[in-house]
Amino acid sequence: MDHFNYHGGELCAEDVPLSRIAAAVGTPVYVYSAATLTRHFGLFRQALDWTDHLVCFAVKANSNLAVLKLMGDLGAGMDVVSGGEYARAKAAGVPGDRIVFSGVGKTVAEMRQAIEGGIRQFNIESEPEMRALSALAASMGATVPVAIRVNPDVDAKTHEKIATGKSENKFGIPIARAREVYAEAASLPGLRVVGVDVHIGSQLTDLEPYRAAYAKVAELTRALRADGHAITRLDLGGGLGIPYRRDNNAPPLPIEYGQVIRETVGDLGCEIEIEPGRNIVGNAGILLSEVIYLKQGEGRDFLIVDAAMNDLARPAMYGAHHDIVPVREPAVGAPVRPFDVVGPVCESGDTFQKGAHLPDMAAGDLIAFRSAGAYGAVMASEYNSRPLVPEVLVSGDHFAVIRARPTFEEMLARDSIPEWL
Ligand code: LLP
Repeated sequence: MDHFNYHGGELCAEDVPLSRIAAAVGTPVYVYSAATLTRHFGLFRQALDWTDHLVCFAVKANSNLAVLKLMGDLGAGMDVVSGGEYARAKAAGVPGDRIVFSGVGKTVAEMRQAIEGGIRQFNIESEPEMRALSALAASMGATVPVAIRVNPDVDAKTHEKIATGKSENKFGIPIARAREVYAEAASLPGLRVVGVDVHIGSQLTDLEPYRAAYAKVAELTRALRADGHAITRLDLGGGLGIPYRRDNNAPPLPIEYGQVIRETVGDLGCEIEIEPGRNIVGNAGILLSEVIYLKQGEGRDFLIVDAAMNDLARPAMYGAHHDIVPVREPAVGAPVRPFDVVGPVCESGDTFQKGAHLPDMAAGDLIAFRSAGAYGAVMASEYNSRPLVPEVLVSGDHFAVIRARPTFEEMLARDSIPEWL
């Protein structure tokens, strides 16, 4: 459930008509609903209320400072994968002891930044990284809590570009070798082994891969404890999918996911960490865009809109589907017809949807791409020198620009021409 609904003949974000935002900020623009974010975060908390837990928002899904502040104020931890994300989490007021550092290629500079600023735990993904972290921490006179990310060789049954739990993927340490790596971790200075970490992929719509992976984590935890390690935390990753199509079967709910966690690892007495991103913010955001032209093609009509693949990359990158809806509410029973909804960028890949069923549309009409709050703005670029897409946060009947659209001057000012040219 989200808070983007028609009221008074117009699609609104909570109580704000989207046309008001378009008039004030221009299009394209991302619009997020604070109430939806709050609600989704609460669902994960509720799903784990049977145990000690920390819901660490996956910052990569949406790293706007206002979004992070909202989540942090609700009590969320943060899962970060770069020095930049760590800096954002801190700038949003999240204390270091609620920040988990994941990622396959943490640099020494990033690890130093996190040790200096405070960190809840590093999720280690390889032996070289483990040794580098140990040497760094020891040289700083620090002892840092670590979990080791294991690769359980489980098929997440999701898009190949976002599946991470098979042995052919670059992530984690093969679970079969985990005991030997934990033994080394325990022997190294500067590290304190506290947990096991796993993340098998994103946009999972089936709970069975989770069940399989978490069962393996439970078995490993028992073995590690028998080996003498004090495993007190399990980081079970993120990845729970969202409905991208309104008319489709919805993926499992957080409460059902929490039940799988309870059934698989609940008896271990560990504190549970999870790292959801998309499920919290995906359906809390839309991309608002205006129709520039209606163009008649060979046997098809193109709706050329002012958003493009640089603003929302998922369709071009993964063939992803985002429901497209008109902002003006169509009359009941109004005829719909197919449009190819495309952006202005000079590539055929800049196609959002072929044959989207929409009522009659005209230049100047507004449309919304639904489910665009996760991996939307964060993956935007300035390709074709289209200024970075702005973001707006709505709460009740008011809204604020939380990232302004850069002017051409600001965009150009980041480049410089060497004096020898
Ligand atoms: N934890 C780790 C270690 C991750 O790698 C990810 C996502 C998450 C948590 C959060 O997963 P979520 O709950 O958001 O599914 N750009 C792609 C998605 C990439 C996901 C990468 N890792 C997309 O637009 O679908």
